[in-house]
Amino acid sequence: MDHVILGLETSCDETAVAVVADGSRVLGEAVASSASLQARYGGVVPEVAAREHVAALPALVDAALADAGLSGRDVDAVAVTVGPGLLGSLLVGMAAAKALAVAWRRPLVAVNHLEAHLAANALVGPLVLPALALLVSGGHTGLWLWRADGEWERLGQTRDDAAGEALDKGARLLGLGYPGGPAVEALARTVDGPGGRRLPVARLSGSELDFSFSGLKTALAQGLAQQPEEPARWAWALEEAVVQALVERVAAAHARYPVDRLYVAGGVAANRRLRERLAEWADGAGVTVVVPPPRWCTDNGAMVAAAAALRWNRTGRLPAAPLSVAPDTLLELGRPAGPA
Ligand code: KG4
Ligand code: ZN
Repeated sequence: MDHVILGLETSCDETAVAVVADGSRVLGEAVASSASLQARYGGVVPEVAAREHVAALPALVDAALADAGLSGRDVDAVAVTVGPGLLGSLLVGMAAAKALAVAWRRPLVAVNHLEAHLAANALVGPLVLPALALLVSGGHTGLWLWRADGEWERLGQTRDDAAGEALDKGARLLGLGYPGGPAVEALARTVDGPGGRRLPVARLSGSELDFSFSGLKTALAQGLAQQPEEPARWAWALEEAVVQALVERVAAAHARYPVDRLYVAGGVAANRRLRERLAEWADGAGVTVVVPPPRWCTDNGAMVAAAAALRWNRTGRLPAAPLSVAPDTLLELGRPAGPA
C-alpha cells in the first residue's frame, strides 16, 4: 500500500469519514447525516449541524477505520475540508482532524470542498484532462475548465441559488420534505410529463455560462396558485427547468472549449434525469461523461482524501497545513477564465 489518507468532511449537514489508499481505493467509509433532523426545520440550521457533527464524529472515525481493517497507526495523513461551508460545521471537523494529526503524529491536509467534489471523479478512474467540470450541489453550482491536475479556470457560477437549493425550495412549495432534490425526482417520476406546465430557464445577458435559479421558486409558486392540482406535474417541470439550464450551459461551454470529457459532481449529480440528459448531449458531442456513484456525489469523506492524494501525487510530497489553519467559509476554486 502506498499511502493511506483519512478524509473528514463536515462542511454542511453530512458528517463523513473515509480511508482511501493511493487516492483511488476506498478502504473504509462511514457517514451520518442530520438531514432527517434538519427536515423538521425545512432546511439546514447551522447550530444543529455543528452539534450533530460533534456527537457523530468520534464513532464515525472508529467505524471508517474498522471498515478498512486498519488502525490510526496505518494512516499516513489526515485530510479535512477547510471551506467553503458553514463556520461551526467546518470548525468541528477541523478540530477533530487537528487532534488526530497531533495524536498520530501525521500531517494535516487542508482541502477545498469544491475541489474535493470534483476530485471524487479520481475514485472512478484515472483523470483525463483537460476536461469540463460541472459541480451541482445544494450550496454550489459552477462550471470549470479543468485544464490540468491542480489547475481550474472558472467559466460560470450561479448568481443566486444553487441548483440543489432551487430543488429544495421548490420541494417546500410542493409540500415535500428536505432534502428536496430526491423528493422532487421521486414525485416527477410518477408522471409522464408536465402536462403543459412550464417553468422558465433563466438566461443571463453578459455571461452565458453563469446560472440563475432564484426565479424558479416564484414562477412555481405562481403556477401552483393558478393550477394546484397534479403537483407531480409541477415537480416534473421543476426538475426539467433545472436540468435544462445545466445541460444548456455545459453545451455552451463545450462550444468554447471543445474538450472530450465532462466530469460531474455534487449532490444533484445523483439525479437520474440530469445523468440521462447529459449522456444524450455527450453522445452527440462526442464527449465522455463521468459521474461518480451517488454516495460520492453527495458530501463524503472519500472525496476529501482523494483531493489530498491528487495533490500528494502531483507534488511528490505531503501538502501539510500548519495546525493554525482556520476555516475559510467563502473559499473559491480556480481563477476566472480568460479569453477562450
Ligand atoms: O453535495 P451535497 O450533498 O451538499 C452540498 O455540498 O450542498 O448536495 C446536496 C443537494 C441538495 O440540494 C439535494 O436536494 C440535492 O443535492 N440532491 C438531489 C438528489 N440527491 C441530492 N437533487 C436532485 N436529484 C437527486 N437525486
Ligand atoms: Zn458539497
